[in-house]
Amino acid sequence: MPQKLLFVCLGNICRSPSAEGIMNHLLQQEQLTHAYQCDSAGTSSYHIGASPDRRMAAAGLRQNIVLTGNSRQVQLEDFADFDIILAMDRQNYRDLMEMNPDEQYASKIHMMCDFCTNFADKEVPDPYYGGASGFDYVIDLLVDACSGLLENLQKTG
Ligand code: 4NP
Repeated sequence: MPQKLLFVCLGNICRSPSAEGIMNHLLQQEQLTHAYQCDSAGTSSYHIGASPDRRMAAAGLRQNIVLTGNSRQVQLEDFADFDIILAMDRQNYRDLMEMNPDEQYASKIHMMCDFCTNFADKEVPDPYYGGASGFDYVIDLLVDACSGLLENLQKTG
């Protein structure tokens, strides 16, 4: 059975689809697509059904990362369904913790940046209201975080 990873941000149109696309790219490179299954979701309902933000998709393509899917909101079932849930920022983390009763699934929920090995950031900054460089930064940061996460998962099994 593949391990199931869920990447979570606010709108599910910028950061979490990028994390999903980058992780799928790494899994293909490492020939590990059979071992992991990736999805992404948002804590908000703002953009349900929308494609990834075109500024984010363009930043991904500059590094050969393809962003796919349509925005969906995190569901209660996700906590049981997924093995690991990665929050892009502290607010996402708090919202996820509040969603699961008695913090039953707390051990599945992690901060994405805890897996960075090169960047010192503690959160993936929200690029939505900023300029183009913010989107490129999100890709660079998430390549680091996804690489660290995959290495960690491969070690711990
Ligand atoms: P994301 O970015 O959480 O990385 O998908 C955002 C997308 C939309 C909004 C905020 C952040 N918004 O306020 O609509």
